Amino acid sequence: MIPARLRCAHLDNPLGVAPGRVRFSWESGCPQAAFQIQVSRNERSLLSPDTVSWDSGRVPSAESSGVPYAGALLVRGGRYWWRVRVWDSGGTASPWSSPATFEVELDPAFGWQACWIGLGAVRESFKAPTADGPSDPVVNALHPSPYLRRVFSVGAPVESARLHVTALGLYEARLNGQRVGDAYLTPGWTDYGKRVLYQTYDVTSLLADGENVLGAVLADGWYTGFVGFDAKRAGAHYGAAPELLAQLVITFADGSSDVIGTDGSWQGRFAAVRHADLLMGEHHDLWLEPRGWDTPGFDPELGGGWRAVRCRDLDGRPLLADPGPPVRVTESLPPVRVWRDAAGRQLADFGQNLTGWVRLRVDGPAGTAIRVRHGEALDDDGFLYTQNLRTARATDEYVAGDGAAVLEPRFTLHGFRYAEISGYPGDLSPADVTARVAHSDIPVAGSFSSSEKWLDQLFRAVDWGQRGNFISVPTDCPQRDERLGWLGDAQIFARTACYNRDVAAFYAKWLDDVADAQLPSGAFPDIAPRLHIPWAGAPAWADAGVIVPWTVWKMYGDREVLERHFGAMTAWMTFIARGNPDFLRTRELGNSYNDWLAPGDDRTPPGLLATAYWAHDAALMAEIASALGRLDEAGEYRALREKIGAAFAGAYVAADGTVASGSQTAYALALHMGLVPEPLRSSTAAHLVAAIEAADWHLTTGFVGVGYLLPVLSSHGRSSVAYRLLSQRSLPSWRYMLDNGATTIWERWDGWSAGRGFQSAWMNSLNHYSLGSVAEWLYRFVLGIDQEPGSSGFGRPVLRPHPGEPLRWARGSYRSVRGVISAGWEVSGDRFTYRVELPPNLSATVCVPSSDASSVRDGAGNGPVSVAAFPGGAGVREAVFRAGPGTHAFTGPLAG
Ligand code: BGC
Repeated sequence: MIPARLRCAHLDNPLGVAPGRVRFSWESGCPQAAFQIQVSRNERSLLSPDTVSWDSGRVPSAESSGVPYAGALLVRGGRYWWRVRVWDSGGTASPWSSPATFEVELDPAFGWQACWIGLGAVRESFKAPTADGPSDPVVNALHPSPYLRRVFSVGAPVESARLHVTALGLYEARLNGQRVGDAYLTPGWTDYGKRVLYQTYDVTSLLADGENVLGAVLADGWYTGFVGFDAKRAGAHYGAAPELLAQLVITFADGSSDVIGTDGSWQGRFAAVRHADLLMGEHHDLWLEPRGWDTPGFDPELGGGWRAVRCRDLDGRPLLADPGPPVRVTESLPPVRVWRDAAGRQLADFGQNLTGWVRLRVDGPAGTAIRVRHGEALDDDGFLYTQNLRTARATDEYVAGDGAAVLEPRFTLHGFRYAEISGYPGDLSPADVTARVAHSDIPVAGSFSSSEKWLDQLFRAVDWGQRGNFISVPTDCPQRDERLGWLGDAQIFARTACYNRDVAAFYAKWLDDVADAQLPSGAFPDIAPRLHIPWAGAPAWADAGVIVPWTVWKMYGDREVLERHFGAMTAWMTFIARGNPDFLRTRELGNSYNDWLAPGDDRTPPGLLATAYWAHDAALMAEIASALGRLDEAGEYRALREKIGAAFAGAYVAADGTVASGSQTAYALALHMGLVPEPLRSSTAAHLVAAIEAADWHLTTGFVGVGYLLPVLSSHGRSSVAYRLLSQRSLPSWRYMLDNGATTIWERWDGWSAGRGFQSAWMNSLNHYSLGSVAEWLYRFVLGIDQEPGSSGFGRPVLRPHPGEPLRWARGSYRSVRGVISAGWEVSGDRFTYRVELPPNLSATVCVPSSDASSVRDGAGNGPVSVAAFPGGAGVREAVFRAGPGTHAFTGPLAG
């Protein structure tokens, strides 16, 4: 019965949470009828109810996610312990959970006794690194990385120590020769003019008695490096040179404390990291490393070069605790093959398109120059293919020092499957080269497997695409000079992203970036963070400003994100309404990417797509407003939705149920957004199927339509057509990608095609997640793991599988905020069996399709509580059961 998996702000024992974000979640060990939370500044006082900061008392509620703190004012920088117990419906109380902790964000303005330090925008001339390396003007313009250090001493027993640290740029913090923490690319990407995030580390165990050295290496990162596709250093966007802000707070055993902040007493110099850039790569000259610079006893006078840092006072930018998960190395992959190309260069194939970098083990003569280039594919002649990276140099270089060394970059990221390694002394052995997979470290939530190998491959490719593109913000692609937080890609993939991984904290962070990028007009941006790019308002892109918060609430049941962004969402709705008084959204469409990259012509009328999304926004806003208890606004949005729906039907839906242009996307949008009048729906669905048949059973959808196509078919009695599209092997199809070597989802259906080869290198990412939005259908329809309309956080799950040829079986799971829900089915002869498992606090409605629904039985031989029409197959009926916690199996005749 004991509640487990206690989390605060969707994170495990976070070390920095804004007071407004302190929300509690747990998994109940029983069907929860009530809960009690206690929060205390002292672990021991949790045992005495008088000294707690908040005691919720017994709250009759099944809620176990996103419960807001409602106690005494939280102390900035304070550490808190909390625990929870629950009661079941019979009134039995569980024991208290083990305590979990959280620490409160420092005061964003007054919590810092430190200043920004750096070495200014000094450029040092760059020497061509390798024998064959050109002296490239882009590379010549890159900055060397500042190394910064300060000595301090500890003279009393330490109870605990926290390092709060951030940079304008990227930092790697060091304490007494050790790397602090395991996060990379910190502090992550935000609009640094509007907010700067910092991280907090527990460094108690790194401190020593006596002399200590706190240090950091900085890099340009998003702040002042190359970002986006304009091949322009971001100096133009945010600032000219990286700076560090750090504050080490030491609490001594006697209760006193000491603060060591960045200030004018720090020293700095440039050293081994000659440049480090996200797009261009890194150059390390190990000869130039001042060995031991971050350890006690180091004498800066010996090697020379250290000078006083520049110090700049805090300037009013809010300094906020990072609400998201950090980027970490989550896996290391050995190569599947190491060989030489026709020019004798050594190549490694990691068997998987991934995001990260290469780690090399080398033991060669001092001064050996090694260069690692990265690419997603090989060209026809077997050479590394890099044209599609555009101006991203994606090259790491090293000049080796004395003796054996492990070489890897620290501040860059490449999207690659292959690496070309030149200058390596001798033959590379597979043991000497490793791919380090790095991305925002987001826990896995979903699983899927089936009787078809290719489908499992597709599922893995989607997840790899998500891993490679969730890097502080959800990006479009990880390899070329773009890597931007495109909102269209993000919204179409959001539901899939939630099923695959627990992205609640990740989206919480990015939705602040979206709000920061909103224009004063109310238009949501097309890209967040926005850089200098003013593009905004594009249908299906900007609408992410409503869709993603709604999705987070829907999947996690957390209202915080809705409360936080309600104002921004309302401003957006006002912006659209202002421009479109006739309820057809044909104006203020910004760049209107429409059904981006639809194969052939994108025939869908832009006004149709835009109006469908407006209707969708209005429907979601009505749900959002009612979830927030804003009932008047909910009513207004429902009324708005009706007006848009009527205008849409009048303009785009004909009396025979055809939808204007007849594109698959037009049908999918009209049906998915519920814009076809009820009596016409089945003929509209038939027209959609006819459009698919006219394309010889191929899809013709781009980024937008693809996300709705299979779900719409399955919810309108046409699951068999959905399976047919899924199984299609010729262009355009998902299987075409897989058959041609894809290990992540491509940007374009024809990223590579037989005869023509690669699509235009100008825009051809082989790792873009948008077309992978199909995985939502695998979870919600194939496995059937879904929830009742209007409900959130899987409080009211509905388990309804949609079996279909060629699958003989499928199974998988989803770790909801209430616990793991598993579902799977198999076909054996003409019998169909559906197995589900529910966590201890969940009951579900289970709907089993069958040719004879009333004869379906559960494990105890009981029949259904009712029989209803099955949405997935014309004329099929479903047996409806109620299932409680635990495992269940339902068997009956297979639906025909
Ligand atoms: C990006 C997309 C993005 C699109 C906008 C492309 O360059 O890679 O993923 O959504 O532009 O149309």
